[in-house]
Amino acid sequence: GLVAGCSSSTGSNSKEIKIGANFELTGGVANFGKQTVNGIMLAFKEVNEAGGVNGKKLVLVQADNKSEPSEAANAVTKLITQDKVSAVLGPVTSSDVLATLQIGQDNKVPIITPTGTNPSITVDNGQVRPYAFRGCFIDPFQGQVMANFAAKTLKAKTAVIYIDSSSDYSKGLSESFEAAFTKNGGQIIGKEAFLQKDQDFKATLTKIKGMNPDVVFIPAYYEEVGKINKQARELGITVPLLGTDGWDDSKLVEIAGAAALNNGFFSNHYSPEDKDPRVVKFVEAYKKEYNEAPSALAALGYDTALMLIDAIKRAGSDDPGKIRDALEKTKDLQVVTGILTLDESHNPVKSAVVIEMKDGKQVFREKVNP
Ligand code: PHE
Repeated sequence: GLVAGCSSSTGSNSKEIKIGANFELTGGVANFGKQTVNGIMLAFKEVNEAGGVNGKKLVLVQADNKSEPSEAANAVTKLITQDKVSAVLGPVTSSDVLATLQIGQDNKVPIITPTGTNPSITVDNGQVRPYAFRGCFIDPFQGQVMANFAAKTLKAKTAVIYIDSSSDYSKGLSESFEAAFTKNGGQIIGKEAFLQKDQDFKATLTKIKGMNPDVVFIPAYYEEVGKINKQARELGITVPLLGTDGWDDSKLVEIAGAAALNNGFFSNHYSPEDKDPRVVKFVEAYKKEYNEAPSALAALGYDTALMLIDAIKRAGSDDPGKIRDALEKTKDLQVVTGILTLDESHNPVKSAVVIEMKDGKQVFREKVNP
Protein backbone atom coordinates (compact mmCIF):
# COMPACT_ATOMS: atom_id res chain seq x y z
CA GLY A 1 0.00 0.00 0.00
CA LEU A 2 0.93 3.62 -0.35
CA VAL A 3 1.79 5.97 2.43
CA ALA A 4 -0.86 8.66 2.52
CA GLY A 5 0.30 11.82 0.79
CA CYS A 6 2.98 10.10 -1.28
CA SER A 7 2.61 10.16 -5.02
CA SER A 8 2.82 6.91 -6.94
CA SER A 9 4.81 7.02 -10.17
CA THR A 10 2.28 4.97 -12.10
CA GLY A 11 -1.39 4.29 -11.73
CA SER A 12 -3.83 6.38 -9.79
CA ASN A 13 -3.85 7.11 -6.11
CA SER A 14 -7.16 7.54 -4.38
CA LYS A 15 -5.89 10.71 -2.68
CA GLU A 16 -4.75 12.60 -5.76
CA ILE A 17 -5.73 13.51 -9.28
CA LYS A 18 -2.88 13.51 -11.77
CA ILE A 19 -2.91 16.09 -14.52
CA GLY A 20 -0.29 16.11 -17.27
CA ALA A 21 1.55 19.28 -18.32
CA ASN A 22 3.04 19.03 -21.81
CA PHE A 23 4.95 22.27 -22.28
CA GLU A 24 7.76 24.09 -24.05
CA LEU A 25 10.19 24.19 -21.11
CA THR A 26 13.32 24.36 -23.31
CA GLY A 27 13.93 25.23 -26.98
CA GLY A 28 12.70 28.09 -29.16
CA VAL A 29 9.73 29.29 -27.10
CA ALA A 30 10.79 28.08 -23.64
CA ASN A 31 9.62 31.28 -22.02
CA PHE A 32 6.07 30.62 -23.23
CA GLY A 33 5.99 27.20 -21.61
CA LYS A 34 7.45 28.35 -18.30
CA GLN A 35 4.98 31.19 -17.90
CA THR A 36 1.99 29.02 -18.73
CA VAL A 37 3.10 26.40 -16.20
CA ASN A 38 3.53 29.14 -13.58
CA GLY A 39 -0.08 30.17 -14.11
CA ILE A 40 -1.29 26.57 -13.84
CA MET A 41 0.73 25.92 -10.69
CA LEU A 42 -0.72 28.99 -9.00
CA ALA A 43 -4.27 27.75 -9.68
CA PHE A 44 -3.43 24.24 -8.44
CA LYS A 45 -1.81 25.65 -5.30
CA GLU A 46 -4.82 27.82 -4.49
CA VAL A 47 -7.27 24.98 -5.03
CA ASN A 48 -5.18 22.45 -3.07
CA GLU A 49 -4.84 24.89 -0.18
CA ALA A 50 -8.61 25.25 -0.17
CA GLY A 51 -9.04 21.48 0.21
CA GLY A 52 -8.53 20.14 -3.31
CA VAL A 53 -11.09 18.83 -5.80
CA ASN A 54 -13.67 16.22 -4.86
CA GLY A 55 -11.61 15.64 -1.70
CA LYS A 56 -8.42 14.94 -3.66
CA LYS A 57 -5.22 16.91 -4.25
CA LEU A 58 -4.26 17.97 -7.75
CA VAL A 59 -0.81 16.84 -8.86
CA LEU A 60 0.82 18.31 -11.98
CA VAL A 61 3.08 15.85 -13.82
CA GLN A 62 5.37 17.84 -16.13
CA ALA A 63 6.96 16.83 -19.42
CA ASP A 64 9.21 19.03 -21.57
CA ASN A 65 8.35 19.02 -25.28
CA LYS A 66 11.45 21.10 -26.15
CA SER A 67 9.34 23.37 -28.40
CA GLU A 68 9.20 20.62 -31.07
CA PRO A 69 6.04 18.91 -32.43
CA SER A 70 7.65 15.43 -32.47
CA GLU A 71 8.74 15.82 -28.84
CA ALA A 72 5.27 17.08 -27.95
CA ALA A 73 3.86 13.80 -29.31
CA ASN A 74 6.35 11.80 -27.23
CA ALA A 75 5.56 13.80 -24.12
CA VAL A 76 1.80 13.29 -24.39
CA THR A 77 2.25 9.56 -24.97
CA LYS A 78 4.36 9.28 -21.83
CA LEU A 79 1.94 11.32 -19.72
CA ILE A 80 -1.05 9.26 -20.81
CA THR A 81 0.38 5.75 -20.96
CA GLN A 82 3.00 5.83 -18.18
CA ASP A 83 1.80 8.47 -15.75
CA LYS A 84 -1.88 7.71 -16.42
CA VAL A 85 -3.00 11.30 -16.09
CA SER A 86 -6.69 12.18 -16.17
CA ALA A 87 -6.21 15.05 -18.63
CA VAL A 88 -3.36 16.88 -20.32
CA LEU A 89 -2.78 20.63 -20.31
CA GLY A 90 -0.70 22.07 -23.18
CA PRO A 91 1.29 22.54 -25.31
CA VAL A 92 1.45 26.31 -25.96
CA THR A 93 2.01 26.64 -29.71
CA SER A 94 -0.45 25.50 -32.33
CA SER A 95 1.99 23.25 -34.20
CA ASP A 96 3.01 21.50 -30.98
CA VAL A 97 -0.64 21.05 -29.94
CA LEU A 98 -1.66 19.66 -33.32
CA ALA A 99 0.99 16.92 -33.06
CA THR A 100 -0.60 15.57 -29.85
CA LEU A 101 -4.34 15.52 -30.57
CA GLN A 102 -4.70 12.14 -32.24
CA ILE A 103 -2.88 10.52 -29.29
CA GLY A 104 -5.36 12.05 -26.84
CA GLN A 105 -8.27 10.91 -28.96
CA ASP A 106 -6.95 7.35 -29.41
CA ASN A 107 -6.49 7.01 -25.64
CA LYS A 108 -9.69 8.90 -24.82
CA VAL A 109 -7.93 11.47 -22.65
CA PRO A 110 -8.84 15.16 -23.03
CA ILE A 111 -6.14 17.57 -24.17
CA ILE A 112 -6.67 21.21 -23.30
CA THR A 113 -4.38 23.87 -24.68
CA PRO A 114 -4.50 27.11 -22.75
CA THR A 115 -3.03 29.05 -25.66
CA GLY A 116 -3.10 27.32 -29.06
CA THR A 117 -5.22 29.57 -31.28
CA ASN A 118 -5.17 27.81 -34.67
CA PRO A 119 -8.77 26.83 -35.60
CA SER A 120 -7.88 23.27 -36.66
CA ILE A 121 -6.94 22.36 -33.07
CA THR A 122 -10.58 21.85 -32.19
CA VAL A 123 -12.16 21.34 -35.61
CA ASP A 124 -10.56 19.03 -38.15
CA ASN A 125 -12.06 19.22 -41.65
CA GLY A 126 -15.42 20.35 -40.33
CA GLN A 127 -15.53 17.73 -37.53
CA VAL A 128 -15.17 18.71 -33.88
CA ARG A 129 -12.34 16.74 -32.29
CA PRO A 130 -14.04 15.10 -29.31
CA TYR A 131 -11.03 15.18 -26.95
CA ALA A 132 -9.57 18.59 -27.90
CA PHE A 133 -10.32 21.80 -25.98
CA ARG A 134 -8.79 25.23 -25.51
CA GLY A 135 -8.89 28.14 -23.07
CA CYS A 136 -8.33 30.99 -25.56
CA PHE A 137 -9.98 32.68 -28.54
CA ILE A 138 -9.10 31.52 -32.06
CA ASP A 139 -7.01 33.09 -34.85
CA PRO A 140 -9.78 34.11 -37.25
CA PHE A 141 -10.90 36.50 -34.50
CA GLN A 142 -7.39 37.67 -33.64
CA GLY A 143 -6.49 38.21 -37.32
CA GLN A 144 -9.64 40.22 -37.78
CA VAL A 145 -8.92 42.36 -34.70
CA MET A 146 -5.54 43.36 -36.12
CA ALA A 147 -6.83 43.87 -39.67
CA ASN A 148 -9.57 46.17 -38.35
CA PHE A 149 -7.07 47.99 -36.17
CA ALA A 150 -4.79 48.50 -39.20
CA ALA A 151 -7.58 49.68 -41.49
CA LYS A 152 -9.71 51.69 -39.08
CA THR A 153 -7.47 52.98 -36.31
CA LEU A 154 -4.21 53.30 -38.27
CA LYS A 155 -6.01 54.08 -41.58
CA ALA A 156 -3.71 51.72 -43.48
CA LYS A 157 -4.55 51.07 -47.14
CA THR A 158 -1.73 48.66 -47.94
CA ALA A 159 -0.02 45.90 -45.98
CA VAL A 160 2.75 43.38 -46.39
CA ILE A 161 2.43 40.04 -44.53
CA TYR A 162 5.66 38.47 -43.27
CA ILE A 163 5.12 34.96 -41.86
CA ASP A 164 6.99 32.10 -40.23
CA SER A 165 6.26 29.33 -42.69
CA SER A 166 7.31 26.65 -40.17
CA SER A 167 4.32 27.52 -37.98
CA ASP A 168 0.65 26.59 -38.44
CA TYR A 169 -0.20 29.55 -36.25
CA SER A 170 1.56 32.01 -38.55
CA LYS A 171 0.10 30.53 -41.74
CA GLY A 172 -3.45 30.59 -40.39
CA LEU A 173 -3.15 34.18 -39.23
CA SER A 174 -1.90 35.29 -42.62
CA GLU A 175 -5.16 34.06 -44.14
CA SER A 176 -7.46 35.60 -41.55
CA PHE A 177 -5.65 38.96 -41.63
CA GLU A 178 -5.79 39.06 -45.42
CA ALA A 179 -9.51 38.25 -45.52
CA ALA A 180 -10.42 40.94 -42.98
CA PHE A 181 -8.03 43.60 -44.33
CA THR A 182 -9.33 43.19 -47.89
CA LYS A 183 -12.90 43.29 -46.62
CA ASN A 184 -12.06 46.68 -45.16
CA GLY A 185 -10.95 47.88 -48.61
CA GLY A 186 -7.25 47.37 -47.90
CA GLN A 187 -4.76 45.68 -50.20
CA ILE A 188 -2.09 43.08 -49.44
CA ILE A 189 0.80 44.20 -51.64
CA GLY A 190 3.28 41.51 -50.67
CA LYS A 191 3.74 38.24 -48.81
CA GLU A 192 7.10 37.07 -47.54
CA ALA A 193 8.20 34.18 -45.34
CA PHE A 194 10.99 33.11 -42.99
CA LEU A 195 11.70 30.01 -40.88
CA GLN A 196 11.99 29.55 -37.13
CA LYS A 197 15.59 29.98 -35.93
CA ASP A 198 16.48 32.32 -38.85
CA GLN A 199 18.81 35.07 -37.70
CA ASP A 200 19.22 37.47 -40.60
CA PHE A 201 16.08 38.96 -42.11
CA LYS A 202 17.69 41.92 -43.89
CA ALA A 203 17.43 40.72 -47.49
CA THR A 204 13.67 40.19 -47.20
CA LEU A 205 13.19 43.34 -45.14
CA THR A 206 15.00 45.36 -47.83
CA LYS A 207 12.55 43.96 -50.34
CA ILE A 208 9.62 44.85 -48.07
CA LYS A 209 10.95 48.38 -47.64
CA GLY A 210 10.93 48.73 -51.42
CA MET A 211 7.22 47.83 -51.52
CA ASN A 212 6.54 50.83 -49.25
CA PRO A 213 3.50 49.41 -47.38
CA ASP A 214 1.49 51.37 -44.81
CA VAL A 215 1.96 48.52 -42.27
CA VAL A 216 3.77 45.17 -41.99
CA PHE A 217 1.92 42.28 -40.31
CA ILE A 218 4.22 39.75 -38.59
CA PRO A 219 2.19 37.01 -36.86
CA ALA A 220 5.03 35.05 -35.24
CA TYR A 221 6.86 34.37 -31.95
CA TYR A 222 9.03 36.67 -29.85
CA GLU A 223 12.48 35.27 -30.81
CA GLU A 224 12.12 35.95 -34.52
CA VAL A 225 9.80 38.93 -34.11
CA GLY A 226 12.38 40.60 -31.86
CA LYS A 227 15.11 40.22 -34.47
CA ILE A 228 12.82 41.26 -37.33
CA ASN A 229 11.69 44.44 -35.58
CA LYS A 230 15.27 45.38 -34.70
CA GLN A 231 16.56 44.78 -38.23
CA ALA A 232 13.54 46.50 -39.83
CA ARG A 233 14.19 49.70 -37.87
CA GLU A 234 17.93 49.51 -38.66
CA LEU A 235 17.02 49.42 -42.35
CA GLY A 236 14.85 52.52 -41.96
CA ILE A 237 11.41 50.87 -42.03
CA THR A 238 9.44 53.29 -39.87
CA VAL A 239 5.83 52.21 -40.51
CA PRO A 240 3.78 50.37 -37.85
CA LEU A 241 4.78 46.74 -37.32
CA LEU A 242 1.79 44.65 -36.30
CA GLY A 243 1.55 41.30 -34.63
CA THR A 244 -0.47 38.89 -32.52
CA ASP A 245 -0.28 37.05 -29.20
CA GLY A 246 3.07 35.44 -30.09
CA TRP A 247 4.68 38.85 -29.43
CA ASP A 248 3.75 38.72 -25.76
CA ASP A 249 6.96 38.02 -23.92
CA SER A 250 9.37 40.09 -21.85
CA LYS A 251 12.17 38.68 -24.03
CA LEU A 252 10.78 40.67 -26.97
CA VAL A 253 12.12 43.91 -25.50
CA GLU A 254 15.44 42.27 -24.61
CA ILE A 255 15.91 41.07 -28.19
CA ALA A 256 14.59 44.04 -30.19
CA GLY A 257 15.43 46.89 -27.85
CA ALA A 258 12.74 49.27 -26.64
CA ALA A 259 13.15 51.86 -29.40
CA ALA A 260 12.73 49.39 -32.28
CA LEU A 261 9.39 48.28 -30.83
CA ASN A 262 7.87 51.75 -30.79
CA ASN A 263 5.07 52.00 -33.37
CA GLY A 264 4.46 48.29 -32.79
CA PHE A 265 1.01 46.88 -31.97
CA PHE A 266 -0.28 43.38 -31.25
CA SER A 267 -3.43 41.57 -30.23
CA ASN A 268 -3.46 39.73 -26.94
CA HIS A 269 -5.71 37.88 -24.48
CA TYR A 270 -5.67 40.34 -21.60
CA SER A 271 -3.82 43.28 -20.18
CA PRO A 272 -2.34 43.15 -16.65
CA GLU A 273 -3.30 46.85 -16.46
CA ASP A 274 -7.01 46.01 -16.63
CA LYS A 275 -8.84 47.37 -13.59
CA ASP A 276 -11.31 44.46 -13.45
CA PRO A 277 -11.17 43.15 -9.85
CA ARG A 278 -10.50 39.59 -11.06
CA VAL A 279 -7.45 40.77 -13.01
CA VAL A 280 -6.20 42.90 -10.11
CA LYS A 281 -6.48 39.98 -7.68
CA PHE A 282 -4.72 37.59 -10.04
CA VAL A 283 -1.88 40.02 -10.84
CA GLU A 284 -1.30 40.55 -7.13
CA ALA A 285 -1.26 36.83 -6.28
CA TYR A 286 1.00 36.05 -9.23
CA LYS A 287 3.48 38.80 -8.38
CA LYS A 288 3.64 37.58 -4.80
CA GLU A 289 4.46 34.07 -6.02
CA TYR A 290 6.84 34.82 -8.90
CA ASN A 291 8.05 38.43 -8.48
CA GLU A 292 6.99 39.50 -11.96
CA ALA A 293 3.84 40.62 -13.74
CA PRO A 294 1.89 37.78 -15.36
CA SER A 295 1.91 37.66 -19.17
CA ALA A 296 -1.16 36.56 -21.13
CA LEU A 297 0.29 33.05 -21.09
CA ALA A 298 0.37 32.98 -17.32
CA ALA A 299 -3.22 34.25 -17.22
CA LEU A 300 -4.37 31.65 -19.76
CA GLY A 301 -2.54 28.88 -17.89
CA TYR A 302 -4.31 29.92 -14.71
CA ASP A 303 -7.72 30.21 -16.39
CA THR A 304 -7.45 26.92 -18.21
CA ALA A 305 -6.50 25.16 -15.00
CA LEU A 306 -9.66 26.66 -13.47
CA MET A 307 -11.69 25.42 -16.44
CA LEU A 308 -10.35 21.89 -15.95
CA ILE A 309 -10.92 22.02 -12.19
CA ASP A 310 -14.50 23.16 -12.76
CA ALA A 311 -15.05 20.23 -15.12
CA ILE A 312 -13.55 17.70 -12.67
CA LYS A 313 -15.86 19.04 -9.95
CA ARG A 314 -18.94 18.83 -12.13
CA ALA A 315 -17.93 15.38 -13.37
CA GLY A 316 -17.55 14.32 -9.73
CA SER A 317 -14.83 12.03 -10.99
CA ASP A 318 -11.27 11.91 -12.32
CA ASP A 319 -12.25 9.59 -15.14
CA PRO A 320 -10.95 11.14 -18.41
CA GLY A 321 -14.16 10.40 -20.33
CA LYS A 322 -16.35 11.97 -17.66
CA ILE A 323 -14.06 15.01 -17.50
CA ARG A 324 -14.37 15.31 -21.28
CA ASP A 325 -18.17 15.28 -21.07
CA ALA A 326 -18.11 17.94 -18.36
CA LEU A 327 -15.59 20.13 -20.22
CA GLU A 328 -17.98 20.28 -23.15
CA LYS A 329 -20.58 21.88 -20.88
CA THR A 330 -18.29 24.66 -19.57
CA LYS A 331 -20.51 27.69 -19.13
CA ASP A 332 -20.26 31.20 -17.63
CA LEU A 333 -17.08 30.48 -15.73
CA GLN A 334 -15.65 33.77 -14.45
CA VAL A 335 -11.92 33.77 -15.07
CA VAL A 336 -9.12 36.34 -15.41
CA THR A 337 -9.30 36.67 -19.19
CA GLY A 338 -13.10 36.95 -19.31
CA ILE A 339 -16.16 34.77 -19.00
CA LEU A 340 -15.56 31.26 -20.22
CA THR A 341 -18.28 29.50 -22.16
CA LEU A 342 -17.30 26.88 -24.70
CA ASP A 343 -19.17 26.93 -28.00
CA GLU A 344 -20.15 23.74 -29.85
CA SER A 345 -16.65 23.63 -31.35
CA HIS A 346 -14.96 23.60 -27.90
CA ASN A 347 -13.77 27.20 -28.37
CA PRO A 348 -14.22 29.95 -25.77
CA VAL A 349 -15.82 33.14 -27.02
CA LYS A 350 -13.74 35.86 -25.41
CA SER A 351 -12.61 39.42 -26.03
CA ALA A 352 -9.17 40.47 -27.25
CA VAL A 353 -7.07 43.51 -26.42
CA VAL A 354 -4.74 45.54 -28.63
CA ILE A 355 -1.43 46.41 -26.99
CA GLU A 356 0.93 49.16 -28.10
CA MET A 357 4.65 48.92 -27.37
CA LYS A 358 5.91 52.23 -25.99
CA ASP A 359 9.51 52.61 -24.80
CA GLY A 360 9.63 48.94 -23.88
CA LYS A 361 6.32 48.95 -22.00
CA GLN A 362 3.06 47.31 -22.99
CA VAL A 363 0.34 49.94 -23.16
CA PHE A 364 -3.31 48.92 -23.32
CA ARG A 365 -4.98 50.45 -26.43
CA GLU A 366 -8.40 48.88 -26.85
CA LYS A 367 -10.59 45.93 -25.95
CA VAL A 368 -12.49 44.19 -28.75
CA ASN A 369 -15.50 41.99 -28.10
CA PRO A 370 -16.29 39.12 -30.44
N1 PHE B 1 -1.46 31.51 -29.93
C1 PHE B 1 -0.12 30.98 -30.06
C2 PHE B 1 -0.19 29.73 -30.94
O1 PHE B 1 -1.22 29.22 -31.19
C3 PHE B 1 0.51 30.72 -28.73
C4 PHE B 1 0.57 31.90 -27.80
C5 PHE B 1 -0.53 32.27 -27.02
C6 PHE B 1 1.72 32.66 -27.69
C7 PHE B 1 -0.48 33.37 -26.17
C8 PHE B 1 1.78 33.76 -26.83
C9 PHE B 1 0.67 34.13 -26.09
O2 PHE B 1 0.80 29.21 -31.38
